[in-house]
Amino acid sequence: MASTSKKTIVRVFEGFAGYGGASFAMKRLNKKSKKLRFEVVGYSEICQSAIDLYNANHKSCNHKSPLKNWGDITKIDVSELPNFDMFTGGFPCQPFSSAGSRLGELDPRGTLFAEIIRICKVKKPKYIFLENVVGLSRGKCKPTFENILRIFKEIGYDIQTTILNSKDYGVPQTRQRLWFFGVRQDLGGLPNNFSMTPEKVEMTEFIEDYLDANPAEDLYKSQRQVDHVKEVHNKPADYFHVQERLCYDYYNRKIRTDRVCMTITPPNHNVVRIVEPPVNGQDRFRKLSIDEHFRLMGFKINEKEREIIYPDNQTYIQLGERAGNGWEINVVTILLDHIFKQL
Ligand SMILES: C[S@@+](CC[C@H](N)C(=O)[O-])C[C@H]1O[C@@H](n2cnc3c(N)ncnc32)[C@H](O)[C@@H]1O
Repeated sequence: MASTSKKTIVRVFEGFAGYGGASFAMKRLNKKSKKLRFEVVGYSEICQSAIDLYNANHKSCNHKSPLKNWGDITKIDVSELPNFDMFTGGFPCQPFSSAGSRLGELDPRGTLFAEIIRICKVKKPKYIFLENVVGLSRGKCKPTFENILRIFKEIGYDIQTTILNSKDYGVPQTRQRLWFFGVRQDLGGLPNNFSMTPEKVEMTEFIEDYLDANPAEDLYKSQRQVDHVKEVHNKPADYFHVQERLCYDYYNRKIRTDRVCMTITPPNHNVVRIVEPPVNGQDRFRKLSIDEHFRLMGFKINEKEREIIYPDNQTYIQLGERAGNGWEINVVTILLDHIFKQL
């Protein structure tokens, strides 16, 4: 890590970057920290719509050129990578349980996780900051999780994990994720009494506060489509006659009255619907707008502030996929802040 007279610079490589959840959180921390400055030196991403979204929002340190995308992580020649102090990444989790895999489902070699190890063994960043789905640490996947922790120890990292839920940190979305943070053992490892779990933050704003003031009409289902939902879900005619705007959980077939949203997932799997008080006796039932997706992923999007820019050519499905696969940036900011205050 380089140290200027004012701030210590943490150079970051953002693997599996998506829209750059780590970058967005680090930008917030850069604004408020007097001691630290995070600087991304490169990223790795293969999906073109994610790359376009990333480049529209994150620039290199000189604020002029786009950051270098190193592309497919499996093809990176590690000797060409710049030096960095922290590797971040939410490594795709699907491969872990692929039945019939050549290496067997408990062997993390042959998965994208192995690419993180390949890079970190050579570049030896001081810190590793990773994310995955909670399922990785439970049930059938638990041995894989334990393998991952063992491998990090073998390559010289002192590592801890935690599971955080966005709704416990101020954003009204049930989104549980597993987080890993490691420090190189030869540089002292994690401090004594290191805590990976920040104190909870009381939720003061609920789903209504995250919804558009005037949602676009094309988000709404027709009365015929809503009648079909009521029929298939076995609901009475007045089921959607609510007093305030709430989430309807399409999967569990019920209105959520706690004013918290279900997990945002890519649109093809998304179970979130918004139900609003009827107008002229007609049900008001719709999908989320793109801004609503991103607000629920922790972004400030209002009349005064817009933390994320969408490139012109992106569709509802593409942007919705990015939100569904992304890091909820409020929780990432709180977690990174909590971690680096202890180092
Ligand atoms: C869980 S998402 C990461 C989300 C990201 N942290 C964010 O905040 O948006 C995993 C990402 O890894 C990318 N990915 C998958 N295989 C990859 C590979 N071989 N090399 C680089 N990126 C890859 C996917 O396109 C996807 O955007």
